[in-house]
Amino acid sequence: MEISFAEADEPRSGAVVVGVWEEAVLTPAARRLDEATGGAIRRALSAALRFKGKKDELLPIVGPAGLAVNRIVLAGLGKPAAVNARFLQQLGGNLVAHLNSAGETEATLAIDVDEAADIGQADAAAHLAFGARLKSYRFDKYKTKQKPEQKASLRRIVVTTAAPSAAERAYQPLDKTADAVFLTRDLVSEPANVIYPESLAAQAEALADLGLVVEVLDEQKLRKLGMNALLGVAQGSARPPRLVVMEWRGAGGDDGPLSPLAFVGKGVTFDTGGISIKPAAGMGDMKWDMAGSAVVIGLMRLLAARKAKVNAVGVVGLVENMPSGTAQRPGDIVTSMSGQTIEVLNTDAEGRLVLADALWYCQDRYKPQLIIDLATLTGAVIVALGHHCAGLFSNNDELASRLIEAGKTVGEEVWRLPLDESYDRDIDSDAADVKNIGGGRAAGSIIGAQFLQRFVNDVPWAHLDIAGTAWSSKDTATVPKGATAFGVRLLDQFVAQHYEKA
Ligand code: BES
Ligand code: MN
Ligand code: ZN
Repeated sequence: MEISFAEADEPRSGAVVVGVWEEAVLTPAARRLDEATGGAIRRALSAALRFKGKKDELLPIVGPAGLAVNRIVLAGLGKPAAVNARFLQQLGGNLVAHLNSAGETEATLAIDVDEAADIGQADAAAHLAFGARLKSYRFDKYKTKQKPEQKASLRRIVVTTAAPSAAERAYQPLDKTADAVFLTRDLVSEPANVIYPESLAAQAEALADLGLVVEVLDEQKLRKLGMNALLGVAQGSARPPRLVVMEWRGAGGDDGPLSPLAFVGKGVTFDTGGISIKPAAGMGDMKWDMAGSAVVIGLMRLLAARKAKVNAVGVVGLVENMPSGTAQRPGDIVTSMSGQTIEVLNTDAEGRLVLADALWYCQDRYKPQLIIDLATLTGAVIVALGHHCAGLFSNNDELASRLIEAGKTVGEEVWRLPLDESYDRDIDSDAADVKNIGGGRAAGSIIGAQFLQRFVNDVPWAHLDIAGTAWSSKDTATVPKGATAFGVRLLDQFVAQHYEKA
């Protein structure tokens, strides 16, 4: 879908969308269009039984007289005070869905919220376009028999604004954000016969073109480093594991220590559960058990693409968790890179084993300022929080509140859950230093986080359990159902707001 910005002009084809405030108050663009159509808009408003100009309301007027366009869509804007960047993204997304379902190929978005004080007109146009682009994502490369009406119809949108070149400039970083989100959504959507440790590592390696320094550690290197927790998970699979490290040096100073922000991702390219095998129903979902790593890869791509003034490192542990004659057995004890021994009582609690070594390696090599890990770690976080918020765990209040704030800004919300010594007692092992599951079914997500914390030294750390938010079974305003890329925008906002040099 092509997106451009232009000054308001009489629309000549396709659809035109104009904004209407609550109580059916017309925006200037809507007023002009009403005049051009001999009052078609006011007539439609008085005939409409439900449309009041509230947020999320849409009213199509098909075949308006006096204009070359095919349809006018009135878009409810609600109250001016509620118009902000996120609001406009959602409106852009909803309009793309509406116009696609109507079969339109071209549309002019003349929303005209200039009178709303909270956001400048260039930014308003840019965020409307951003939401539209985010919602236009489709993963349909394997559908060979789609009928025309099943495909996206919308080819082109023009966003009208009094400041098209400023809007274009404001849109540039958002366009790069959408590119990164789409990369993450693609990686998460691909099946496990296409995306496995080596092929996912190759996808990360390709980002070197953007100026990232990417290093791929193979099995032999991982063995040398003593990453036996990660290797134990991988040993049942015919696909060898990889650990990928991506460095971005954007804060200036070419040699000095990187002292980066660190992002660590769980990359289980398929999780059968291993010998503690999962039931058949829904197992296909476990192709997206590498979402944490895909978010880290997307985020690193974005930081490089927009030349973020920050030093950052992304580390992803890539393995496939399979049952086989070589697979790890429940009860096995492995020595992690940290030196701590782990009793693996359930081979399906594998993400924490991969992260234990990835987190340790990251701290050991980089001495980061802070570490944030992302993982589809526990089914229990879905029981606790559903599909709206991700679980947040942190040893640092400031870090936690910055993540909560960033999440609210971009609409990727996180909810903090506790860490506590008393939960930690539950993973003491009789045979080793720690065991990979707790004693019962209680507090499963907290237990997972407590396990990770055993591998975190004295550094501000946060863990995001994205098992409930990485994949969506229904459309939302800016995210079509499927892979969400939850975390890319959140962490980009977090970085931009607090860690970039002016
Ligand atoms: N990848 C799963 C968690 C998961 C479940 C993600 C559902 C997305 C949807 C993880 O590896 C896992 O299997 N966790 C176990 C842990 C248990 C064995 C302690 C779980 O949640 O059941
Ligand atoms: Mn598992
Ligand atoms: Zn898993």
